[in-house]
Amino acid sequence: MKRYVLGLETSCDETASAVVSSEFEIISNIVFSQQKIHASFFGVVPELASRTHYEKIHFVLDKALKKFDIKNIDLIAYTEKPGLKGALLIGKTVAKTLGYIYSKPTIGVDHLWGHIFSVILTHKGKIKFPFISLIISGGHTELSLVHSHTKKENLGQTRDDAVGEAFDKVAKMLAEHVPKRYKSLFRYPGGPIIEKLAKFGDSKAIDFPRPYMMESDDFSFSGLKTAVLYYIKNKSLNIKDVYNICASFQEAVVDTLLVKTLRIIDKTKCNRVVISGGVSANKSLRDGFIKIAQNKNIEVYFPHKYLATDNAAMISLAGLNFYYNN
Ligand code: KG4
Ligand code: ZN
Repeated sequence: MKRYVLGLETSCDETASAVVSSEFEIISNIVFSQQKIHASFFGVVPELASRTHYEKIHFVLDKALKKFDIKNIDLIAYTEKPGLKGALLIGKTVAKTLGYIYSKPTIGVDHLWGHIFSVILTHKGKIKFPFISLIISGGHTELSLVHSHTKKENLGQTRDDAVGEAFDKVAKMLAEHVPKRYKSLFRYPGGPIIEKLAKFGDSKAIDFPRPYMMESDDFSFSGLKTAVLYYIKNKSLNIKDVYNICASFQEAVVDTLLVKTLRIIDKTKCNRVVISGGVSANKSLRDGFIKIAQNKNIEVYFPHKYLATDNAAMISLAGLNFYYNN
């Protein structure tokens, strides 16, 4: 039986709503990005995020339901955790209210499962289990073994900064240290900006440390971030230096993620990898994984680029799965 889910995502700085079917069709996928609001703060300001979700949630909802009657929705899914408390509350309240008014069931979804489902949605449910999941976002860095649609075993996570957070903080550090005329190059989120500037740089120019942490499957990116800070401190940087820092930092991150993932593949003997979260939009990272995958006979899956960062389509599919498959 074909089912339709209405999804709401308000965990961080994207106010989003979507309608997705159980046959992996995206009927609508509306995202209001708050990036401009948080840009100059170099990070998400929780109170501003909550207020903006409150102001924009009905706008994204109306657009998502423009060509789809809410009466034909079977389920309403919303992001339950993790995320900013006040921000999550907006999505949950709206979802519960709609559920009450239209007599529809509601389900709270774990945002990290949502990211995994962004890849399942992209590949229309064809990825086989088990697989290794690498979630690399602004708030999370998580390696796990996914046994089924509803069961995953955590294998490693970050002990300090998440990968996206490290990108964002390095962008902030660069903004503070570059000559005035280059400052406007940088804002939040830093990941896409670093990726853009890295294209003009030499990734071998600076030998930043690779935080492999051989004794553990956890990650730590704060040392790498500090190494960048020491490198740029008290230097008068020209634009070529900036390009090289971006390229070398990005390569250190990609190398680290590759080495840690390959080690997990070796340990678990599972050679299927699903990579998700905002940082999975990064082309160097994708190219790095695709190249290794070809050489080592590994299957690697990414989300569509527009599903890599936060959205409600992934929450819809995750909700549908947990509500009907559990
Ligand atoms: O998944 P996401 O939208 O939100 C969270 O769940 O946290 O991820 C946002 C993060 C930000 O830190 C942003 O800098 C990073 O993803 N990001 C990127 C790229 N696009 C977004 N990092 C590196 N390269 C990119 N192209
Ligand atoms: Zn996310």
